[in-house]
Amino acid sequence: MRSSYVTELRFALAALAAALGPGLAAGAAADDEAARGRDLAMRLCARCHLNPGQGEKNGPDGVPGFRAVSKRPHQTFEGVVQWLESKPPMMPDHHLTRDEIFRLAAFIMSLADEKE
Ligand code: HEC
Repeated sequence: MRSSYVTELRFALAALAAALGPGLAAGAAADDEAARGRDLAMRLCARCHLNPGQGEKNGPDGVPGFRAVSKRPHQTFEGVVQWLESKPPMMPDHHLTRDEIFRLAAFIMSLADEKE
């Protein structure tokens, strides 16, 4: 009786670990990407996009803060990637690689969970 209970418990735990394992690893990898994106953003984008109290852009020449960008309705990781890939004329061309673009987008979207 007892041994089959233990076997079942082991089986359940193994199934749980299998289900959670890849998800946890992916979560940790995403955090890592966002952290690298933060470093890049501090170097390249901070003067325009990471000023204290900066919100959504006001006026045609305004610059939106990254938190405001991340919190826009319907904002997605892909949307930020596409923006950066389009080399928008109102931003300096930073000659970003695809990896850098992904990291920056991961960092920007990680701000959506933060409070104002
Ligand atoms: C010289 C200032 C400047 C720098 C540096 C700059 N940007 Fe921008 N960025 C702008 C301006 C201005 C806009 C607003 C464009 C508009 O909406 O017309 C903008 C808009 C954006 C947006 C919002 C796009 C949207 O969907 O509306 C994103 C995302 C963004 N920038 C990412 C970055 C990243 C990442 C970097 C660093 C690699 C960066 N920017 C560096 C000026 C800058």
